[in-house]
Amino acid sequence: MKAEKIRRKSEILPAKGRLGILLPGLAGAVSTTFIAGVEAVRRGMALPIGSLTQMGTIRLGKRTENQVPKIKDFIPLPDLDALVFGGWDIFDDNLYEACLKAEVLEKTLVEELKDFLTTIKPYAAVFKQEFVHNLEGKHIKKETSYLDLIEALKADIEDFKQKNQLDRCVVVWCGSTEAYLPIKEVHQSLEKFEEGLRRNDPNISPSMLYAYAALSMGVPFVNGAPNLTVDIPAMIELAEKYEVPIAGKDFKTGQTLLKTIIAPGIKARLLGLKGWFSTNILGNRDGLVLDDEASYKTKRISKLSVLDYILQPHVYPELYGDVYHKVCINYYPPRGDNKEAWDCIDIFGWLGYEMQIKVNFLCRDSILAAPVVLDLALFIDFAKRAGLYGVQEWLSFYFKSPMCKEELYPEHDLFIQLMKLKNTLRFLMEEEQITHLGIDYYME
Ligand SMILES: NC(=O)c1ccc[n+]([C@@H]2O[C@H](COP(=O)([O-])OP(=O)(O)OC[C@H]3O[C@@H](n4cnc5c(N)ncnc54)[C@H](O)[C@@H]3O)[C@@H](O)[C@H]2O)c1
Repeated sequence: MKAEKIRRKSEILPAKGRLGILLPGLAGAVSTTFIAGVEAVRRGMALPIGSLTQMGTIRLGKRTENQVPKIKDFIPLPDLDALVFGGWDIFDDNLYEACLKAEVLEKTLVEELKDFLTTIKPYAAVFKQEFVHNLEGKHIKKETSYLDLIEALKADIEDFKQKNQLDRCVVVWCGSTEAYLPIKEVHQSLEKFEEGLRRNDPNISPSMLYAYAALSMGVPFVNGAPNLTVDIPAMIELAEKYEVPIAGKDFKTGQTLLKTIIAPGIKARLLGLKGWFSTNILGNRDGLVLDDEASYKTKRISKLSVLDYILQPHVYPELYGDVYHKVCINYYPPRGDNKEAWDCIDIFGWLGYEMQIKVNFLCRDSILAAPVVLDLALFIDFAKRAGLYGVQEWLSFYFKSPMCKEELYPEHDLFIQLMKLKNTLRFLMEEEQITHLGIDYYME
């Protein structure tokens, strides 16, 4: 993150006008659940449960001062009424049709929102089958060269801004997980990447073209999937060049969310860990995409990285030096978006005595992801107005594989991530950091 041009407190640009939220993957389960959900909240039909920006609070000052404003009242954020939605998809369904197909929300709710949802239609996508083997769509841009595709994406962003009279825009990738792609030479610098664009290098994925288009227009970009996208030196350089914030990657929602809640607890009490077996079944379109080994590999790597960083086996070799961690994802259509996850955790305690923890989480993937999209869109826009640019590590709270500065290791512990996020807000608003020391109360 670059903070040389940081603006604090009253210098932070106001959240005036309308904010456009553009989602690649607009017709997918997460996007539709997010947009329909925001509209339901705007109409007073539901509460934005799970959203820190809407329902979360932040303590200021001492515990005795009782100052706990809502985050949305503490920092300048736009009202939900100021949000406008758009995006791209390889299917041309309007959001009403897409919501019905996703089968996440109750039909009665979708019908009630029909007038609003039918007005939102995706732009044609930039898509390459090599990166998502199990999907075939027809709503795809005709241009073939990367440079032309980028120009077409920029024209969409401009069109969206003009038509909706937007003040600002952000992009949140809610598209399918792309096939596994390791970092190659072409990703190593902006110069090499731009050279790669000119010769349509096969190591540049569609999500990278979206990110390139957005960043070079000064539009912040968030990556909700595990594909590299902005997590390469070239994109970080681009973001810094145009002074745009970026964040990623892979929304932390179901099984991994629980893992980053439970693992820090086990470590805090110095209980040992022998193995952690995680398996889950899901039957939505995301599950279908992950049923292909190439996309599955990208996701599996993202899900596996979590434990090592939290448990620090190099610091605690007796406790975590020999952990068997396995993650399986199984496509099972009958469950649709209602994923079921099982975790079998083999721990040991005093004198090495063994114990087991079993977790069976019957979750709803998109219900957990929707508030994360909302918070990220609002926070990344806030970051830009506060003059922050490059990688936004303080948003790690929302990601399975949080991006951070090269020399640092990512922070996965959910509670440290939340403290980091809130302290960043306190810092930007020139409030005192909260360390939870508390001894001062006993010294007066
Ligand atoms: N739901 C969760 O809890 C969760 C958690 C972490 C990450 N994610 C990730 O978020 C993404 C969305 O999840 P979902 O459940 O909505 O999946 P989904 O399959 O329902 O939606 C993805 C959409 O992206 C579209 N798409 C694919 N390639 C595209 C491209 N190049 N341009 C534009 N659109 C494209 C697909 O047509 C589809 O409509 C996935 O990558 C998923 O892995 C979801």
